[in-house]
Amino acid sequence: MEKAIVKIPISDVVLDESIYPRETIDHRRIAVFEENIRDGFEFDPIEVQVWPDPGNPAKVRYRILDGRHRWGAYKKTGATHIEVVIITLDQMEPILYAAQMAIGPKQLTESETRNTARRAFQRNPRLTAAEIGRAIGRTRQTVSAYIADLRATAVFDLELKIFRLHQLGIPQDRIARRLGVPQQTISRYLPKMLEFTKWVNTDLSKGFTVSQVAQKHGWPQSLVWSQALVKADDFDRFKALQWGIRTWDVWNFMECDPRFGDDWPGRIPAQLVAHILYFFSEPGDLVLDPMAGGGVCADTCLAMGRRCWSLDMDDRPETRPEIEPWFWDPEQEWDTRPFFNTREKPALIICDPPYFDKKADAYAEKSISGLSKTAYLAFLERFLRFLKQIARKDARLAFINADWRDFQNCPAKKENQRQAILLVDYYPESRLKRTLFGNHSQVLQEQSVSGH
Ligand SMILES: C[S@@+](CC[C@H](N)C(=O)[O-])C[C@H]1O[C@@H](n2cnc3c(N)ncnc32)[C@H](O)[C@@H]1O
Repeated sequence: MEKAIVKIPISDVVLDESIYPRETIDHRRIAVFEENIRDGFEFDPIEVQVWPDPGNPAKVRYRILDGRHRWGAYKKTGATHIEVVIITLDQMEPILYAAQMAIGPKQLTESETRNTARRAFQRNPRLTAAEIGRAIGRTRQTVSAYIADLRATAVFDLELKIFRLHQLGIPQDRIARRLGVPQQTISRYLPKMLEFTKWVNTDLSKGFTVSQVAQKHGWPQSLVWSQALVKADDFDRFKALQWGIRTWDVWNFMECDPRFGDDWPGRIPAQLVAHILYFFSEPGDLVLDPMAGGGVCADTCLAMGRRCWSLDMDDRPETRPEIEPWFWDPEQEWDTRPFFNTREKPALIICDPPYFDKKADAYAEKSISGLSKTAYLAFLERFLRFLKQIARKDARLAFINADWRDFQNCPAKKENQRQAILLVDYYPESRLKRTLFGNHSQVLQEQSVSGH
């Protein structure tokens, strides 16, 4: 643990209640400290941790780890600066460090100790009872009792995530890395999976609906569908999901099915994904969604009995653990190792990149939507070639895109063409002869879907 003493503006120091172990503030103690300071007494520096301001990440703030009363007293004297020790916590949870420091001068009450243990575990479920106990001065057994209910939920959450990622065909080493647990934990849980699905299947066989079962067991709907339809063929899956099958070449979907995928800028309807799967893949096939967004593709694959690897630059480990964080950096060579150097290669790629420019503000800062038109098209050309390289030889590509014109409040013929991307831009004449995926290339034009 590194330590350095500096004098900083007192207004940059903040009290973060979520890591403060005490339930009350001792105002008498602050008053006594204030008097001591006015009499010329110098207290030890308070301990703080660098803490970016959530409203303005560029501004650095410091949150108190120890010295809440001294800080209060200095403020009361009108001091503009305060001496601090800046602490860099390597692995330790800030609330446990704060608790350890707090019990130096005065023990925490029973309720404060219990609450601190629970908050620490909620912030980091990988903490053991012994680790928490050491910080707050309680035995492992006492801490185990404090957190028993939270632990049961955390174990359930972990098992559910393992099950979901496994059902999607993600290899064990990647599941372990994604969930931050040893690979042995994954292999230990996998044989228990049958047991895990038993209660869900029992309820389904009693006639409860998928959404009732999902709610009762805390499962995502898509995972319950994967169980409910485990023996069904594609045709029956469409029937059970109440999606009519369209002819193979003209698809019109008026809205996104709310059961699959998150509300996400540029979300595509699950019905569109299901049709791609129906016409261009087989049950059990491995699908790759390299820019997965709200996860509609993975959800639909679960319901349609396909496996699916999903990647996106936007990382949501809690709600979308199956979407592995991955940034397609336009400036770098892409490495095939982490995901694609396996014996298993995708049989179908569903590629739904963001539009050029149109929704650039809706995505993360470095999204390809913010590139210039030339850089965007160059990215896509390189991207599609790379996807070909990492897919099965007979793989198919579903490239989802549409014309995008920046309506400029003038007649169409007067618009500046440089601010538009039309489908012909993806397939200029010179390139028409070289199909990217041999004869299998499938370009899907979006129609009547909530636009990107
Ligand atoms: C149109 S959205 C995908 C929507 C998704 N099909 C759905 O229905 O929810 C495109 C996604 O590409 C991601 N993205 C943009 N640029 C990226 C990059 N360079 N690397 C990785 N992901 C990127 C964005 O974060 C966004 O989620």
